[in-house]
Amino acid sequence: MGNIIKAQKGTKDILPNEIGSWHMLEQKALEVFTSAGFKEIRTPIFEATELFARGVGDTTDIVNKEMYTFEKSERSLTLRPENTAGVVRAFIENGMSRLSMPVKLWYKGPMFRYERPQAGRQRQFHQVGVEMFGIKEPTADAEVISLAVAYLNAIGLNDLDVEINSLGCPKCREEFSKNLRNALRPYLEKMCPDCQSRFEKNPLRILDCKVPECKEILESEELQNVIAKDYICDECHEHFEKVKSYLNVLNIKYSVNKLLVRGLDYYNRTVFEIKSNNLGSQNAVCGGGRYDSLVGHLGGQDTPAVGFAMGMERLKSLLPETEVKPLTAYVVCDNSEHAFKLVNELREKGISADFDMTCKKFTKQLEKASKIANFACILGEDELSKNEVSVKNMLTSKQITVSRDDVVSAFVQ
Ligand code: HAM
Repeated sequence: MGNIIKAQKGTKDILPNEIGSWHMLEQKALEVFTSAGFKEIRTPIFEATELFARGVGDTTDIVNKEMYTFEKSERSLTLRPENTAGVVRAFIENGMSRLSMPVKLWYKGPMFRYERPQAGRQRQFHQVGVEMFGIKEPTADAEVISLAVAYLNAIGLNDLDVEINSLGCPKCREEFSKNLRNALRPYLEKMCPDCQSRFEKNPLRILDCKVPECKEILESEELQNVIAKDYICDECHEHFEKVKSYLNVLNIKYSVNKLLVRGLDYYNRTVFEIKSNNLGSQNAVCGGGRYDSLVGHLGGQDTPAVGFAMGMERLKSLLPETEVKPLTAYVVCDNSEHAFKLVNELREKGISADFDMTCKKFTKQLEKASKIANFACILGEDELSKNEVSVKNMLTSKQITVSRDDVVSAFVQ
């Protein structure tokens, strides 16, 4: 006998007993996003490596350490670590900039990052997200944040913290980076190797470092003073103030977190995360923000954009356990021919149904019905002789007898 082959580290099977929650997450995404005028887009799982190197940014952990990259026919390809870059590529390639703005897109599907697996962090995971193109006004930022909150509420998650920040534009960010570098320079040797390389390339990312030594430096009074100061220019400031006032109008509670910088290079102005206190260290269920330069940067016509993505495994882990019975009806009968006929009729009428193909005892069949179906359709000798069916609600135990020809009516009890 050969060795048993197991699923790869950081990947998981989604088993039939969990699939109900996944269907719910997907169905609610379709409903909530469609009701706000978003249309689904499905892009390929792999793309040219260059798309992510240029799109997500070559100073990010994702591009430097976490990509699943391989070669085929001398082309370097990468399994998508996120989907903003892919959607932007599709937007440009399919001439969507000619459509009337905004272009509102949503997606769901697997993403791949070579990270150290832990609770809430996998190597293959799933995201559901939206990208909206064409609106530079702060209404778009507020619309996208409120859509994220609406989706979370629709799946039953109400107790989450929305954190927002503004990274400003490249011009004001330069000023902030300069001051940050000046304040951090004396501590450079004590910082982790990642932060040392971030220092020149992207010092803002240091604010997000989880290494205790770096965190301690950031908590010093000197650094806190630099961080607390508002460097963003008047225009960016006004934009952020408007985003906040729209969120107030929409009754969305949020807090401003000046350390929120996000791990991807494409953002400017508004960035946001939605966090749960019930998730341990990997506590972000949603991350997003504005990325006004990405379309132009990837060769398209300059188009402002804003979006978010949520980790579906993290969402699922926050959902209450609900038992969903897979079937509406389970036919209980010791005559396979009659059982077969009734099951087929029910299925034809759109009622999910099954029966015991091994013809076990009635009591065993009823036991099975209570486990997997909402109703038992009992065809005993009595019922067969009178051309009737007894339909038992397995939750309430209420039982009614209906004519065999009228069995469908029983499911509205
Ligand atoms: P992100 O923050 O890298 O943003 O990922 C968004 C969400 O995906 C995270 O908040 C988390 O819930 C989930 N996630 C990320 N990595 C993992 C992992 N290894 N295992 C499980 N869940 C994970 C983006 O991906 C951006 N593309 C979001 C965006 C869209 N920005 C603008 N538009």
